[in-house]
Amino acid sequence: MTNTTLEPHILVSMTYVSRANPDMSAEEFSAILQQAQANNTVNAITGMLIFNNNYFLQTIEGSRAQINHLLDALIADQRHYDLQLIETRELRCREWSRWAMNYASPTKENAALYLKYSTTVNFNPYLLSAESVRGLMSELSQ
Ligand SMILES: Cc1cc2nc3c(=O)[nH]c(=O)nc-3n(C[C@H](O)[C@H](O)[C@H](O)COP(=O)(O)O)c2cc1C
Repeated sequence: MTNTTLEPHILVSMTYVSRANPDMSAEEFSAILQQAQANNTVNAITGMLIFNNNYFLQTIEGSRAQINHLLDALIADQRHYDLQLIETRELRCREWSRWAMNYASPTKENAALYLKYSTTVNFNPYLLSAESVRGLMSELSQ
């Protein structure tokens, strides 16, 4: 369980989109998720990760220093590319406090949700507004 009892003075949330390498296997994805959850538990980072249509869409939240440190690591990570920031903002309290890294994959049940927030026929998070991403993540996690 992530220790979020002692909150840092400045808590920030960062959301980005990126593209997974075309040859990414299910095992590789699973390794990313496990690494994220293990590290985040230690670093008091929480958040949500979507993997769909070979796109990653991720929100990470934690102390400003930790989030900037993770951003550096994410940009250098060769398992994905073309990382684009969607939103960074300060938080009064965490929105994903229960999850070291929550995760949503595409299923038959949630297919309509991805379409609801998409502006195109295929899910393409590069085209989503920050507000749409927040709505999508929130609905997917319910
Ligand atoms: C899509 C994606 C999401 C990731 N999410 C996280 C994360 O939430 N937390 C994290 O520590 N590392 C995450 N990583 C891994 C980092 O890029 C980096 O490899 C890792 O933080 C390095 O950790 P280490 O110093 O323990 O090797 C992610 C990588 C990818 C490709």
